[in-house]
Amino acid sequence: MSVSTGAALLWILLLTFIVSTVSGAQKLTLTAEPGATINIRNNNQVKGCQVCTGSGNTQHCSIESLNSFSGSTVSVELECSRPQDVFSIEIVRRINCTTKSCSGHIIQTDSNSVDVLRFNRTFTWNLAAAAPKAFQIDFTNTGLKQINPSEKCPDRHTYTLQAFQSTGNVAVGKYCRSGTISSAQILKSGSFSVDVPAEQKLQNDKFDVTVREKIKSLARISLTLPKGTSSSELLSPDYPESFPDDDTMEWYFQVPDKHGVDLQFLNLTQPDCVKKEVAVEYHQKGRVTSVLGLNDTQPLQNQGDFLLTLRNCEMERAQADSPGLTFTLKVSASSPASTVPCRVDLSKTEGLSLNISTVTSTPDCVMKINSAKKDNITVTSSADLSFEDCFPGNMEVRATQVIDCSSGKCPDPVSLSVPLLPSCLPAPLSRVTWILRPGQHGTVKLISPTGPLKQSLPGQLCDDSITIDVAEENGATIGSFCPNGAIQTVHIHTSVSVTWWSSMNAKAPRSAVLNASFEKEITERYIFTVSPKRDTPELVATPAWPAGMKAYSTVSWIVSVPPKMEAQLIFTKLSQPKCINRHTNIRVQRMGSPKEDYSRREDEVANSELTVSESFYLNMSNCLPERGNFSVITKISLQKSNGLLLINILSVVAALLVIFVMVLVVVCVVIRKKKKKKKLNHEVSVYNPNGINFLPGYNGPPKTHEDDDAHVYTSIDDTLVYTHLLKKGADVGFYGETYQHFTGHTDSQKPLLSSQKGPPLPNRSPSQDQTLMDQSEDEQSSNLGPRLEPEGGN
Ligand SMILES: *[C@@H]1O[C@H](CO)[C@@H](O)[C@H](O)[C@H]1NC(C)=O
Ligand SMILES: *[C@@H]1O[C@H](CO)[C@@H](O)[C@H](O)[C@H]1NC(C)=O
Ligand SMILES: *[C@@H]1O[C@H](CO)[C@@H](O)[C@H](O)[C@H]1NC(C)=O
Ligand SMILES: *[C@@H]1O[C@H](CO)[C@@H](O)[C@H](O)[C@H]1NC(C)=O
Ligand SMILES: *[C@@H]1O[C@H](CO)[C@@H](O)[C@H](O)[C@H]1NC(C)=O
Ligand SMILES: *[C@@H]1O[C@H](CO)[C@@H](O)[C@H](O)[C@H]1NC(C)=O
Ligand SMILES: *[C@@H]1O[C@H](CO)[C@@H](O)[C@H](O)[C@H]1NC(C)=O
Ligand SMILES: *[C@@H]1O[C@H](CO)[C@@H](O)[C@H](O)[C@H]1NC(C)=O
Ligand SMILES: *[C@@H]1O[C@H](CO)[C@@H](O)[C@H](O)[C@H]1NC(C)=O
Repeated sequence: MSVSTGAALLWILLLTFIVSTVSGAQKLTLTAEPGATINIRNNNQVKGCQVCTGSGNTQHCSIESLNSFSGSTVSVELECSRPQDVFSIEIVRRINCTTKSCSGHIIQTDSNSVDVLRFNRTFTWNLAAAAPKAFQIDFTNTGLKQINPSEKCPDRHTYTLQAFQSTGNVAVGKYCRSGTISSAQILKSGSFSVDVPAEQKLQNDKFDVTVREKIKSLARISLTLPKGTSSSELLSPDYPESFPDDDTMEWYFQVPDKHGVDLQFLNLTQPDCVKKEVAVEYHQKGRVTSVLGLNDTQPLQNQGDFLLTLRNCEMERAQADSPGLTFTLKVSASSPASTVPCRVDLSKTEGLSLNISTVTSTPDCVMKINSAKKDNITVTSSADLSFEDCFPGNMEVRATQVIDCSSGKCPDPVSLSVPLLPSCLPAPLSRVTWILRPGQHGTVKLISPTGPLKQSLPGQLCDDSITIDVAEENGATIGSFCPNGAIQTVHIHTSVSVTWWSSMNAKAPRSAVLNASFEKEITERYIFTVSPKRDTPELVATPAWPAGMKAYSTVSWIVSVPPKMEAQLIFTKLSQPKCINRHTNIRVQRMGSPKEDYSRREDEVANSELTVSESFYLNMSNCLPERGNFSVITKISLQKSNGLLLINILSVVAALLVIFVMVLVVVCVVIRKKKKKKKLNHEVSVYNPNGINFLPGYNGPPKTHEDDDAHVYTSIDDTLVYTHLLKKGADVGFYGETYQHFTGHTDSQKPLLSSQKGPPLPNRSPSQDQTLMDQSEDEQSSNLGPRLEPEGGN
């Protein structure tokens, strides 16, 4: 103590400034004590002002800076009227440490000269430890708080810590006085500085500097968290620039008894890594307790003091525009409420149970149900619970509701809503599971009251704010879904578990998560109805993807395609097993069409993309695999169909006229028969005044007009007209095979499916595809050329 007080006194005496004003130029006499350096800097490079030293021939002037070296007294002339607007003064001192002790401490003292106070001043201490040791600066008395470099401190004293590394200087951080940071260790050498603006006197202060053992990082910042609830923020070194390449930084947290600490990486940007990964390690009592990515949820720390080590990767240098690794580390500490009693009554909701558990086990947290201590609590009816010293952030509350409809006495539909629970529970519900039992041979139908669902798949991932996992009751997953997609309904021919969860603590919705109905047996195991949107391709995957479908199971997607549109299907990530019994099959069949338009077994090579001009079934079935699995993601996109330019067809192939006439006759006959039938909702037929044609579609009957009232749409029976037509066509030999297996070399072609088949047409243009008399996928269709790059045969 006496040594450092002595040193401070010495510096006050030696560091004297004398300023006098001589005809516009100010004269400043500065004396630096031994070991100290004084710099006069024109930081803002203001022109028309210079700093000069010496006189006559030895005079040296500069507009940028002047360094005055240790122990010398220098007379300085600042040649302009308000030099304090141009120049700032920096006083640099040095503290050397041996392996045992350091040559001084950081003692903040200012000049007593009013003239010097007119200048911005920076007081810098360069510190060096005897390699390979580290030095430590102790801030216990004041504490420091890290700030964003763009922020200012309330008392206008801004502290800066730097680490001098072989690869360059690293800005460890900028700080204000008073905060949770209690010390800083820096490996080998670095600097500590305080900036004070003009007219602000540097507060007298002292920070002890000591020698520490080597650290395995550029710096280690220690925080002493106060008792009770507190929150601090730390920033990545060099912020807002990237964390240094391939480097390591440590933070040590001293945590009061029975307190929990939550860490969150906010405003995180992550680099592109060439080697290694960005990772954060938690160490406790010298042991690594967990290693995580920065994107992962960080576990609550409630076992006392801990060390956090952050390692950057070897970053991709080429990407100059990438922000690299930057983050704000939010540190929230809390002490748990001592004892919270909580009465729960679930008896009003049939089949509901609650599970309450700790995320990481905590000796302090005592949970009791009806006075009995438990590691985790399950409530099935009503119970008196109590929670002692349990951190809300470390608690998980899950609900399960069994809805058994085997008796057939369930409301239709059953609303699956997140149950309301008492607020005395230690945490909000994080997960709700409904087990839906349709009874033997029954089917569960799920429909989202808030609009169609999207399946979470690579390329259209859910953002995790709300996820609905659908599985069979035995646990076999079907898929994960979230709002804003194209899946209208899901039918599952077995007992189902639906789990709603949110990884982002999203509030439970007030409305139902899903509506469930219990229906009669269906032929497939799973059926999805899909209404793709015009501008968003929709991905759907076989149940359990990326795992394979169950042996022998079947899935069907009923895809509706609006009028004047066509759907393009691309099978991606197709995995086929080797079957020992039966075959896998992928089939496409237009609504109302008696034949398949596409079929592909595991032992066949076929096109992986096709276009379908109207609503269709996409059915898949699995075999009994010997090895491997059956799984595929199907991408469904809508595109404008190529119009109905009948006239072109007629001019190209006159022979087709025969068929048109035939169709016309048949349609007219049927319309007369059916004229009284009511108009249906889903109108997909297209009236074309250039001719008489129609495009039969899903849900909708084909329509045409009667000879004279050209603008009256009349509803007619779909299947009747359709099958009649097809039969006639077959009779006269025009409707052949509706699909063909393509071999590898034809992969650049795509089958184009339309409502009816006709004879091959030479040199058709794509605009002629969607016609009444369309072709089958014969060799001629290769003239159309691919519309998409093919995915490949398999
Ligand atoms: C002095 O510091 C203030 C803010 O602290 C800054 O705006 C000003 O430009 C500085 N002046 C000089 C000459 O560096
Ligand atoms: C610190 O060490 C350097 C050389 O390593 C020396 O030049 C300087 O004078 C020393 N300073 C103090 C204050 O001991
Ligand atoms: C994140 O960045 C935004 C914009 O840069 C800023 O407004 C916000 O305060 C930052 N949040 C934190 C926690 O640093
Ligand atoms: C972290 O999460 C963000 C947003 O969820 C994502 O954009 C980013 O790619 C993720 N980074 C890593 C390395 O996982
Ligand atoms: C809750 O606990 C019960 C009984 O231990 C168990 O059957 C049920 O699966 C658990 N539910 C959850 C969501 O963990
Ligand atoms: C619940 O507690 C029991 C013992 O009380 C334990 O066997 C079981 O693993 C715990 N379950 C969970 C999910 O923590
Ligand atoms: C969901 O069920 C509620 C009643 O339980 C009903 O009012 C609503 O129309 C249903 N929504 C859908 C999309 O079926
Ligand atoms: C496809 O599945 C549907 C049920 O969704 C069924 O009606 C249709 O006959 C199936 N078609 C083929 C070709 O398997
Ligand atoms: C097939 O899927 C099952 C789960 O459905 C999985 O256990 C198995 O490893 C998968 N096999 C292959 C070859 O992918």
